[in-house]
Amino acid sequence: MTASYSVHGDVAVITLDNPPVNGLGLAARQGIVAGLEQAQADAAVKAIVLTGAGKAFSGGADIKEFGTPKALQDPNLLSVISALEQSTKPVVAAVHSVAMGGGLELSLGCHYRIAAPGAKIALPEVKLGLIPGAGGTQRLPRVLGVEAALNMIVSGEPVNSEMLAALPGQKLFDRMAASPASLMDEALAFARSVADARPLPLVRDLPARHPQGDAYFQFARNMVKGMAKNFPAPAICVDAVEAATRKKFADGMAYERQHFINLMWTSESRALRHLFTAERAASKIPDVPSDTPLREIRKVAVIGAGTMGGGIAMNFLNAGIPVTMLEMKPEALERGVGVMRKNYEAQVAKKKLKADKYEQRMALLSTTLSYGDLKDADLIIEAVFEEIGVKEAVFKQLDAVAKPGAILASNTSTLDVNKIAAFTGRPQDVVGMHFFSPANVMKLLEVVRGEKTAKDVLATVMAVARKIRKTAVVAGVCDGFIGNRMIEQYGRQGGFLLDEGCTPQQVDKAVEKFGVAMGPFRMGDLAGNDIGWAIRKRRYVEKPGMKYSKTADLLCERGRFGQKVGKGWYDYLPGKRDAIPNAEVVAMIEEHRKALGIAPRKISDEEIVQRLVFSLVNEAAHILEEGIANKASDIDVVYIFGYGFPVFRGGPLQYADEFGLFNVVQAMQRFARNPLDDAAFWQPAPLLARLVAEGKTFN
Ligand code: NAI
Repeated sequence: MTASYSVHGDVAVITLDNPPVNGLGLAARQGIVAGLEQAQADAAVKAIVLTGAGKAFSGGADIKEFGTPKALQDPNLLSVISALEQSTKPVVAAVHSVAMGGGLELSLGCHYRIAAPGAKIALPEVKLGLIPGAGGTQRLPRVLGVEAALNMIVSGEPVNSEMLAALPGQKLFDRMAASPASLMDEALAFARSVADARPLPLVRDLPARHPQGDAYFQFARNMVKGMAKNFPAPAICVDAVEAATRKKFADGMAYERQHFINLMWTSESRALRHLFTAERAASKIPDVPSDTPLREIRKVAVIGAGTMGGGIAMNFLNAGIPVTMLEMKPEALERGVGVMRKNYEAQVAKKKLKADKYEQRMALLSTTLSYGDLKDADLIIEAVFEEIGVKEAVFKQLDAVAKPGAILASNTSTLDVNKIAAFTGRPQDVVGMHFFSPANVMKLLEVVRGEKTAKDVLATVMAVARKIRKTAVVAGVCDGFIGNRMIEQYGRQGGFLLDEGCTPQQVDKAVEKFGVAMGPFRMGDLAGNDIGWAIRKRRYVEKPGMKYSKTADLLCERGRFGQKVGKGWYDYLPGKRDAIPNAEVVAMIEEHRKALGIAPRKISDEEIVQRLVFSLVNEAAHILEEGIANKASDIDVVYIFGYGFPVFRGGPLQYADEFGLFNVVQAMQRFARNPLDDAAFWQPAPLLARLVAEGKTFN
């Protein structure tokens, strides 16, 4: 049962009941239509109330039905809305908690609406690269006025019901209930009061006008163009609302329908819909049931108050969870806490944080030099130097003092989490929590699952991630986990491109034009080129056959470590982040090329982008096959939230799917024939070859 029917005296009540948010799946739609028919047939019923059970009026389309034939099966949402409009008895929508997307459109098909205060009202379709598709663009301007409606449609953001009710001249809500608790009683009384009203009012009959339409829509278009680079939907929201003001209702509806369908077929909307489900799916781990009991996390400790430790601690303070920070020396604590204060003070100065909130957060922080003070901590995150000996000393001490059941996490980016776990007598409680820098800002968290990590530890860490507003993805133990293992191949390609004829600037520009936030060389300068250097030095020993360009090493030998020293692949002015091309670096690359006897060639932006992006794709296919990542969509989430991959492309694997895996493999085979590249690397990963042979895709 996804919708129920009951009769209260002379009023019938149709209640959507499809947890968690009363999504308008097929059964729910059928339920509404059946309820309407029953009410029409019952002479004792004079009016109808439509509402939702539980925590929503309705959250809109049922995401479980996305992309399935059920989503379109009759009665579709348009026919349900038309059945509401055609009801011969008045229908009152009793709106509470959440009315979004199709849920709000449904209420706009009712003759009247009464709302509880505190309800979140939105048309969020634009966030999926769409426009509302069941009359939202045509009906909302008729009840809210053009400007308020367009703001909601273009932003997709929720607005509180009482704020909307306060708009002058609004006709969205005929009544506001005193409270959510009294909504149903008031809705029944209101329905009785309008039982005999005829003709029944319809939103479609109201006018949608703007007194200075031409100027306003021009202004709106300019605004949208600036903010919606790479996404077509926001501009079409403007067009559709304008159509509401210029066309007859039925023609406006046809216009909306046509554009809704067109947008459905754009790669941008597919990317956004993919990421919407991918982000939700990331927290699900195949062999960890969703009802796994969680460990309680009330107190957190962080070891090491350096670059990462401070940012990690801030995440918990922001979520109201007390943190104890441990360091080796008082000076280190002082410096670490100082950096955190500076970070918060910058937020206060920018008015992003209230001064009293800042004080509340800092009050949750305590510092110590003694492991004894960590004995109450439920979760301890280590962020000390990246040396296995240091990690060993820390984890042995943690094993000695931490209470039974405490989760012991390491923020290591390259070390073996299984080895770290083995330093303790409780490897089941050890897990990797790989934050990204700056840790208080970056959304991504790689949760590294050791061989012995307990399922409830994983489930707890995923829940903790949600609490501190991170997007967490599970990775298996390997060098670099998901993100950095892929970026290493990308960096290697960047080096080959320099050897063959590119400048750092040309490579960065090409990738940035493709949409990546920062090209590989600017990124290297930001992260510190010495980090990659240290990794390569290790690789030269571990994998002597692996091919590398030497340019990055030459750069580091000149001390050009990046932004932190004011010079790297580019130059940087003090306090500025703008990358200024440096002629000596370009000359250094040219000399090196000459020494290798390579005649430079002109490389197209297309080749640059394909080599960089497909290097990610091939490594990702290995990662999937080895089970380091649970699913392809997890890898896309890592690259979107941790590496600035363009959202409108949906992640590297979604992009490869769109490009066509057959075409991707063809390109790889072409790259493999380039004697200056690494032919072995470009052998398509077995999984990729299989997908092509079977005509399948990653996602
Ligand atoms: P950092 O050098 O800025 O900070 C390390 C801090 O740990 C220092 O304040 C040091 O005094 C303290 N420390 C060292 N040994 C200690 C011990 N035995 N007990 C207590 N405190 C000790 O280093 P950073 O960059 O914060 O890195 C920390 C960890 O995070 C490393 O494992 C690193 O691989 C990892 N990581 C770093 C990222 C980055 O972008 N910097 C990104 C992701 C992970």
